[in-house]
Amino acid sequence: MSVTILAIESSCDETSCAVMHDEILLSNIIAGQDVHQQYGGVIPELASRAHQQNIVPVVATALKQAGVERKNISAIAFTEGPGLIGALLVGSSFAKGLSLALNIPLIAVNHMQAHVLAHFIGEPRPQFPFLCLTVSGGHTQIVLVKDFLQMEVIGETYDDAAGEAFDKSAKLLGLPYPGGPMIDKLAREGNAERFKFPEPKVDGYDFSFSGLKTSILYFLRDEKRKNENFANENLNDICASIQSRIVSILLHKLERAASDLKINHIAIAGGVSANSFLRNQLVEYGKKNNWKTFIPKFEYCTDNAAMIAMGGHYKFLRGEFENQSVIPKARLPITAHL
Ligand code: KG4
Ligand code: ZN
Repeated sequence: MSVTILAIESSCDETSCAVMHDEILLSNIIAGQDVHQQYGGVIPELASRAHQQNIVPVVATALKQAGVERKNISAIAFTEGPGLIGALLVGSSFAKGLSLALNIPLIAVNHMQAHVLAHFIGEPRPQFPFLCLTVSGGHTQIVLVKDFLQMEVIGETYDDAAGEAFDKSAKLLGLPYPGGPMIDKLAREGNAERFKFPEPKVDGYDFSFSGLKTSILYFLRDEKRKNENFANENLNDICASIQSRIVSILLHKLERAASDLKINHIAIAGGVSANSFLRNQLVEYGKKNNWKTFIPKFEYCTDNAAMIAMGGHYKFLRGEFENQSVIPKARLPITAHL
């Protein structure tokens, strides 16, 4: 059976549309939203309005670039959640309208499952069961992936997500939003051994990042008392030290889970998996532990519709469709829709 999926992602501040034919990605258009930068974080109401403006041209461009006509689309997939509800409503309403107009099935895709499924766009692909460290602005999870749509969270954060830890640390250093990519860049010239931040003691495979944020806050406050320009003068070393600690917190837990469960196909996903130090360190941990590691291409780390199309593809094959009464959900566990 030949399947062509048109997918829409609008869970946060990227409006994206992708077209996929039989697991081959034909287009993946992403429109970002600069409007949030001046506020130091995503403003939900502004995100919804920007999605509303972007969605028609983004979908038109994705179809054009794919060289696919509307009449040849098999189904419309959209992000059901989790995410900002107003932002999700724009994408889901558009998807519902398109499915009705074209009289083709509608498929709801879980955004967190989709981050994991980004590993199936192209090669190499991990083998089931594998572990995926899913790290984004809203989530930090170790996911046991049993099948394309069968996933279980075995560890997660009690408080801040890893992306938030990056973004909040950057804010304390006076860096613009989103801080993760800035810290990554500045850390490249820095000495990660210079400052030591504590690793929290958390049971099992769970995480906590709020203590790290507090320790950075107090550290900067104390150092600034001695030298007002401390942060600026030592920015590279501070960024490298913070990044190194966030990454070691993540990988120590991943290492423990992999060893306990005796799983050696190990993946990372989500916006923070774009971090160059995390990517390098995963490879090092892989060598040490005899893992086969899977790192998504940059364009599939942060939010994109290609990963939603992948989820849509597998749901299409299973005949998992929705009717027009489906509503997006701000909170949606990864185990939903099995
Ligand atoms: O997956 P994503 O695009 O959106 C959510 O679903 O949250 O992740 C966004 C998060 C932000 O916190 C951003 O700072 C972080 O991913 N991020 C990074 C890097 N690129 C994006 N964090 C560290 N290093 C990066 N290179
Ligand atoms: Zn995401």
